[in-house]
Amino acid sequence: MSVTDQAFVTLATNDVYCQGALVLGQSLRNHRTSRKLALLITPEVSSGLRSILRSVFDEVIEVNVLDSADSVHLALMQRPELGVTFTKLHCWTLTHYSKCVFMDADTLVLCNVDELFDREEFSAAPDSGWPDCFNSGVFVFRPSLKTYNLLLQFAAEHGSFDGGDQGLLNSFFSSWATADIGKHLPFLYNLSTSVVYTYIPAFNHFGRDAKVVHFLGARKPWNYKYDLQTKKVMQDGTTDGSLHQLSFLSLWWNIYSASILPLLENLQKMEDSEFEECKHTFNGVEITLKKVSPFVANSLQMPVLPEQIDEVHPVACSPEELALEAWLYFSNPYVKLNKAVLTSISLSLTDLQNNLSFLLHFRKPRN
Ligand code: UDP
Ligand code: GLC
Ligand code: MN
Repeated sequence: MSVTDQAFVTLATNDVYCQGALVLGQSLRNHRTSRKLALLITPEVSSGLRSILRSVFDEVIEVNVLDSADSVHLALMQRPELGVTFTKLHCWTLTHYSKCVFMDADTLVLCNVDELFDREEFSAAPDSGWPDCFNSGVFVFRPSLKTYNLLLQFAAEHGSFDGGDQGLLNSFFSSWATADIGKHLPFLYNLSTSVVYTYIPAFNHFGRDAKVVHFLGARKPWNYKYDLQTKKVMQDGTTDGSLHQLSFLSLWWNIYSASILPLLENLQKMEDSEFEECKHTFNGVEITLKKVSPFVANSLQMPVLPEQIDEVHPVACSPEELALEAWLYFSNPYVKLNKAVLTSISLSLTDLQNNLSFLLHFRKPRN
C-alpha cells in the first residue's frame, strides 16, 4: 500500500551528486518502499539528466542554492565544497508531505527502512566523530514553512559551527542529545563506512544488521573505478582496502551498473551530437575534447570513438588514465600523450579537476 503524504527526500546540487541520488533512489525502490521519493536539485543540474532523475524519483524539485559561504569553518573539516549543504534546508518547504526522511545522496539503503516514518521530528543517528551531535546524513523531519523560516533566521544570526547543515541543525535542534532517546536513531540507520576501521569488533558483531550505509567523507563511491567485466571495484594505493568498505562500494556499483548506467547510456546516445566541444591545437595536432558525463570515466568503459579512429587510438577512461593512456597516432610512430602534454591543455585540466571526463578526438595534421 502506498503512502502518498510521506517521502524520502534527497539533494543533488550538481550532476556528480546526482549519480549518488540515483543509486539511493534505486536502492529504495529495490527494497520496495511504500513512500514517495523526492529529489531536490539546483539549476546547475543538466537538463538531460533531469529526465532520468524523473524516472527514478516521483518528484524532482528545483530549488535555489543556499550556501553558508563560511570558508573558515568549512576549512576545519577540509571540505570547502560543503557550504552548499545549506540547500538541504529547502526540504522543510515540502509541505505537501506530512513527514519525511532526508537522506544524503551518498547513502544507500540495504533493506526496507520504512519504519523510520514511525519516528518524530527531529530524529537522527549519532555522528561517529562527535556522538553528542547527530549526523545530518539521515534524519526524520516534518516539513513546515515556519520551521524553514526559523532555520534561515537562525542561520543568519548564528551561522553554523561546521559551515555546513550539520552544525546548524545540531545547534537548532539542540535538545537532541539529552531530551528524548526515541529521537536517537540506531547507528545502523546511518552506518558511516569510515568508522568501521575505528571499531572493527563492533562492526563484526553488529554490522550484519546495518540498514543504511553512508559513504561519508571526501571520497565517494563514484570516485572509485569499477571494472564492468569482473564486477569489482578497483583498488588503488588510496583505497583503504578494508573488505567491509569494498563490499559496500561493490554494492553501490552493482546498482549503478545494473540500473543507472543503462539509463545514462541511452541518454548519451540521444544527446551525443549535442555535447559541447572545445578544440585545442597542440604540436600542430588538433584535439577535440567532447564533454561527457562523469560515469563514463569511472566505469572503465571504452568511449564510443569518433570516425577518425583509423588515424588514432585514444584510450580515455578517467582523468588519470587520460594522462597515462591516451595514445595518438601521429605521422607514423605512436606518440604517447603524457602528463606533460596534458597539463599544457589548460582548459581540459580545469574541467578534469571539476570531475568531468572527455571523449577525445584527434586529427592528424594535414601536410
Ligand atoms: N551535496 C550536494 N552537492 C555538493 C555537496 C553536497 O548536493 O556539492 C549534498 C548531497 O546530498 C550530499 C550532502 O549534500 O550527500 C552532504 O554532503 P556530503 O555527503 O558530501 O557530506 P559528508 O556526508 O561526506 O560529510
Ligand atoms: C556531515 C554530514 C553531512 C553534512 C555535512 C556538513 O558530515 O554527513 O550530511 O552535509 O556534515 O555539515
Ligand atoms: Mn554524506
